[in-house]
Amino acid sequence: MYGMLLESVEHFLREKYGEKTWNLIRSRAGVKNHVFVTHERYPDHLILDIASAAAEVIGKQTKMTPDDFIEFFGTCFVKFFSNYGYDRIIKVSGRYFRDFLDGIDNLHEHMRFAYPKLMSPTFFCSEETSTGLLLQYKSKRRGFLRYVMGQILEVARTFYGITVEMKVLRNNSTETGCHVVYQLNFNNSAFKPPSPDAMSVHQNHDLTCEAFFRIMPFSFVVTPNMKILTTGEALSSTLGNVLIGNRVDSVFTLRRPRREFSWENVSR
Ligand code: HEM
Repeated sequence: MYGMLLESVEHFLREKYGEKTWNLIRSRAGVKNHVFVTHERYPDHLILDIASAAAEVIGKQTKMTPDDFIEFFGTCFVKFFSNYGYDRIIKVSGRYFRDFLDGIDNLHEHMRFAYPKLMSPTFFCSEETSTGLLLQYKSKRRGFLRYVMGQILEVARTFYGITVEMKVLRNNSTETGCHVVYQLNFNNSAFKPPSPDAMSVHQNHDLTCEAFFRIMPFSFVVTPNMKILTTGEALSSTLGNVLIGNRVDSVFTLRRPRREFSWENVSR
């Protein structure tokens, strides 16, 4: 894991509880480094070890468990990344909180230029209504369930000025990672229910198919039985017609969002 996450933890534990307490926590967690380096990588368990150590050292006085500290670290991360100018990325990631949630994966993809070995989690939204949605979080790491809560609640508060009620609906953690489903309740008046004709080409008279394929030369059309019907010009001149007639899931891999490659999921 990149040092930036640990830097934020160190910064806020030190600021809130003082240098002496930080040193106690640090040595109890077995942290040898005195300084975390933003772009250097550290073992994933370190941040969880610091949370456990913090609960041992100041848990009684703060009435905080290791999980409470993990959530606090998520909050700290959001406060901290503004120092790097990353707050601007959040500000442009969407006018509404729902747009931000939909774009967390893109945000991490963007970070790949600065953090090439990034092993980022994946997020996607489902069952959206005007009062909230389900946020799905998948990761190859475990133990960050409350970290995500700290991040999401802090972004909602600082960048969107809204209060969000967030609870865990499902948590499936295994040796290889986790899949968590959160229920988020908030004023989501920006939500527009999809019109029943949204997928119908006939309803959209203002753009011809020819114009669409000119603008989107790497696009392709998939039928409900997941077969590729036609491809944009750039795709067919690069790959020929080998794609047409094949099942889309036999020639492409759905990388993000990390979910089943089915018609229901891609057509939403
Ligand atoms: C623009 C701000 C952000 C930056 C620069 C950023 C960058 C990073 C980096 C460098 C890592 C470490 C991954 C690794 O070392 O392999 C990470 C992990 C993570 N990020 Fe972000 N991130 C940002 C925003 C967010 C937001 C808004 C969320 C929302 C929930 C999020 C969720 C996570 C989680 C949960 C992890 C660690 C746990 C896991 O891998 O499952 N990040 N991020």
